[in-house]
Amino acid sequence: MKMIASPFAKHAAMIAGAMLLGVTLGTSPAQAAGDLPEIKAQSWTFSGPFGTFDRGQLQRGFKVYKEVCAGCHGLRQLHFRNLGEPGGPEFSEAEVKALAAEVEVKDGPNDEGEMFDRPGKPSDAFVSPFPNENAARAANNGANPPDLSLMAKARVGGPDYIYGLMVGYKEPPSSMKMSEDMSYNDVFPGHQIAMAAPLSEESVEYTDGTKPTLENHAKDVSAFLMWAAEPKLEERHKLGFRFMIYLLILSVLLYLAKRRIWSRLKH
Ligand code: HEC
Repeated sequence: MKMIASPFAKHAAMIAGAMLLGVTLGTSPAQAAGDLPEIKAQSWTFSGPFGTFDRGQLQRGFKVYKEVCAGCHGLRQLHFRNLGEPGGPEFSEAEVKALAAEVEVKDGPNDEGEMFDRPGKPSDAFVSPFPNENAARAANNGANPPDLSLMAKARVGGPDYIYGLMVGYKEPPSSMKMSEDMSYNDVFPGHQIAMAAPLSEESVEYTDGTKPTLENHAKDVSAFLMWAAEPKLEERHKLGFRFMIYLLILSVLLYLAKRRIWSRLKH
């Protein structure tokens, strides 16, 4: 019989197809960096369908954000409690409390109808550095430092782009006329950016033995911003993995069932 000539091949193809689907669904968008040649793909622990964040890297990245970027950029979709949740930097409860208490949060009105400042709590959102866009522009030569909550997803290249931006500051080519207060950057569209190089060697002190190089600072803060933009990445990867296993088992069962049914037919 022609129809059952190669049932195994057919099923193998089905299983391969299902696995491919699983892999595609689980792929992180950071890998779509290919179409912009100047953005070099870095190796990240969180890329690929089974990737997870490196806790130490996220904790260092948070430190870089807090001590350098937070002076100009908000991260308003994050709450302090997120820093202690599974799949993120996983700071301890006490550390989260202490980190939250470092900031002043506006609260109120109190019984007298007045707003007041109090130390932050884990349930508070991150506090942006400027009260509004005009204040932000006034402090940055007219340019607005964007909120970084979704930045790692908003730009083509994601964390590869942010890394490239951090390490991409150079002397402009002599042919290029630079406007005042602008810096030349390899990966920024148009190459003139209103943000001066925020990082250099030893910008931030590391306490876990990691070398405080520009490259490590850049990598750590990019990974941290990737987590900030997609705090459920690890959960998504785990689900994708379970889904693939499920498809595999289902395919084997279907194959065995089909073989049993067809074996009743006379050849
Ligand atoms: C002194 C203020 C200041 C600091 C500190 C700073 N930035 Fe910026 N940043 C800016 C400004 C202003 C812009 C807008 C630049 C423009 O549009 O030309 C910007 C833009 C950006 C962008 C968006 C680039 C794009 O593609 O539009 C990213 C990403 C970024 N900053 C990341 C960071 C990170 C990460 C840090 C910390 C390591 C940091 N910045 C520290 C002022 C700052």
